[in-house]
Amino acid sequence: MSEYLPGLEGVPATKSNISDIDGEKGILAYRGYAIEELAEHSGFEETTLLLLDGQLPNSQELAIFKQQLRDNYRVKFQIREMMRYMPPNGHPMEMLQSSVASLGMFYPGNECLTGSDLCEDLNYVHNMSVKIIARMATLVAMWEQIRGGYDPVEPRNDLNYAENFLYMLTGKEPDPFLAKIMDTCLVLHAEHTINASTFAALVTGSTLASPYGVIAAAIGTLSGPLHGGANERVVEMLKEIGSPERVEDWLDEKLANKEKIWGMGHREYKVRDPRAPILQGLMEKLAKHKGGKNSPLFDTAVALEVAAEERLAKKGVYANVDYYSGILYSEMGIPLDQFTSIFAVSRAAGWLAHWREQLADNRIFRPTQVYVGEPLREFVSIDKR
Ligand code: COA
Repeated sequence: MSEYLPGLEGVPATKSNISDIDGEKGILAYRGYAIEELAEHSGFEETTLLLLDGQLPNSQELAIFKQQLRDNYRVKFQIREMMRYMPPNGHPMEMLQSSVASLGMFYPGNECLTGSDLCEDLNYVHNMSVKIIARMATLVAMWEQIRGGYDPVEPRNDLNYAENFLYMLTGKEPDPFLAKIMDTCLVLHAEHTINASTFAALVTGSTLASPYGVIAAAIGTLSGPLHGGANERVVEMLKEIGSPERVEDWLDEKLANKEKIWGMGHREYKVRDPRAPILQGLMEKLAKHKGGKNSPLFDTAVALEVAAEERLAKKGVYANVDYYSGILYSEMGIPLDQFTSIFAVSRAAGWLAHWREQLADNRIFRPTQVYVGEPLREFVSIDKR
């Protein structure tokens, strides 16, 4: 019997050529391209196509893909009606998980998932990926309007993905500077090897469930505070600290009580997550754009990171992607409970790239367990218990 490793730490669960992490050197690459280069030079649509197809598209391929997404931004009115009956104080990730699952009824497509082991129809896989990625932002933005008591803002076909997302979220013409920041955030969050939510997507995909079921499973998994939900907690934590002067005492008390510092630590990285400095740089640019003064939240975050590094670097615990993303979204005026949904909008690209890879060489996931329960015993009737 093989050794049981809690959390499957270090256990390879798949073979993949989509992305790679060097956790000692702090390197993340999608299809061989460093995340720093993609953040600087690429956009969400191009990065998504890179993840799905394995190659950077030429300009014609990219234009076709952008058009395909735009043609699928809209959703049927019944989905709006369904959302109207959801409680306005419900969490957006629960809305998103339910709504994505419901897309399967409105835009079905299981023709490739017939029970044979392989799905080699790349058109089918591509079209389903487009249908889902295009609508993720629409669902998140619709909910923002509906829970506030408004009708959803119709998507606009003249805007790129990030611009249209901000436009639908706020109902206002998107500021090009903020749209560029959003675009870069979408690139940074699009993929991250076989993390918990991607693993959930693979397991679900391996049963030949519909891609909507695959993405709904991944969304549920992403929602937890140990995964995508951490960015919300980071902002709550920084608000609780209040100012840079309070950082040291607050941190010492938390660590003495063995509490988690949100947005810190990673199973794979033993150095700073390479996405953290990019997000920190965006935060600095945003502060300049807003008139040059850092927000108290950002100053507190910088002070906390320095203090945490002094105490936690010996354990290989450094800032991760969630540390600065929440602050950035907060400074962009995005409500706290939508941060993880934005993460999901972007990560759908990676999840679907892994779904495609899984279908091309599928075998249902069925691990084993170490049974530690009772040995076989006789049933005791209820009057004798
Ligand atoms: N704050 C304080 N200490 C932390 C920590 C954190 N955020 N993350 C890890 N540590 C410490 C642990 O207490 C443990 O210390 P010990 O050896 O003295 O017991 C050590 O570092 C190893 O941590 P462990 O929990 O075994 O790591 P993991 O690989 O199982 O967990 C995370 C990884 C991401 C779940 C974990 O770091 C965490 O909970 N971080 C906060 C949540 C978060 O930001 N999640 C988003 C990830 S992108």
